[in-house]
Amino acid sequence: MAGINSPFRYAGGKFYARKQILSHIPVHSSYIEPFAGGASIFFAKEKVKENWINDIDSELINVYKVIRDFPQQLIEFLKRPINNVCAIPQEFVQDVRVGDMLPASKQLHHYFKNSFSPKNDLERAARWFYLNRTSYSGIMNFQNMYFGYGDKYSMQPKNWPRNILRTSEKLQNVKLTDWDFELVIDQAQDQALVFLDPPYFNADQDKFYNCSFSKQDHFRLEKCINRNQDRLSIFITYDNTPEIKALYSWMPMMFDTEWNYCIQRTDDQKFRSNRKGERYKGQELFLMNYSIESDYARLLV
Ligand SMILES: C[S@@+](CC[C@H](N)C(=O)[O-])C[C@H]1O[C@@H](n2cnc3c(N)ncnc32)[C@H](O)[C@@H]1O
Repeated sequence: MAGINSPFRYAGGKFYARKQILSHIPVHSSYIEPFAGGASIFFAKEKVKENWINDIDSELINVYKVIRDFPQQLIEFLKRPINNVCAIPQEFVQDVRVGDMLPASKQLHHYFKNSFSPKNDLERAARWFYLNRTSYSGIMNFQNMYFGYGDKYSMQPKNWPRNILRTSEKLQNVKLTDWDFELVIDQAQDQALVFLDPPYFNADQDKFYNCSFSKQDHFRLEKCINRNQDRLSIFITYDNTPEIKALYSWMPMMFDTEWNYCIQRTDDQKFRSNRKGERYKGQELFLMNYSIESDYARLLV
């Protein structure tokens, strides 16, 4: 199946870097993302024989599992149901036609964030999905989550079913786990391509994610990659810092890279800006234990 976009908006997602990243990956038949998040690279590339998506955030992995195995039920939950037996209080759905998708509204966002108590995995996934599609920048850390949806810039609810169905198709037969990265990398099958996009070394990531990643975790990751380097193809994207360059000085390939990206301004968000669609530059370090020809990157030394 050809490339599609990630179903989620995800802080630190690699949507804008996908061309550079895809141009650096070797032929492979087994693919693993231990820090999947929105898994932009998995969704952008062709599926291979074996595919494994992992993230320690079990709420995120639950949504992937529900989308893979129960897409139609998830879509139905996000609609005003035909029989009118709705888990959402009537006041939020009274203006919605039976069978239509729930609206992306500030009130419903507030309700899902603060009052809704999911009773099962499907309801947990529906809540996560709704909040992800309607929160500013898709930030899912509750303390820093604000309504941030705009009809012009965000995917409209009427398009959510198509998004869920095509994601479900791509996720068929994909292994999904919510383990710590170390377990995944140590268990990866020989010759697999492991694409690693860990939280940044020098950034306040706790703002964005629900699971914190300490300096010790970064050092643990380096040790884990080092002991598996001879049997796996490894691609890491990291923030471009002297500490990471020093830590991975043993890596055969190290590239400075940058790409343009754009933050779409939404109609309603806490950090409102007057400038729409501001352009930024992403700057990262690509580290690889294999060599590949590429026009995109500049070899450091
Ligand atoms: C930079 S994000 C990945 C973004 C992703 N590449 C994308 O395109 O959306 C890093 C991810 O690592 C996950 N994470 C944090 N600690 C982890 C751990 N110990 N093991 C596995 N995943 C972890 C976070 O939950 C987060 O989703």
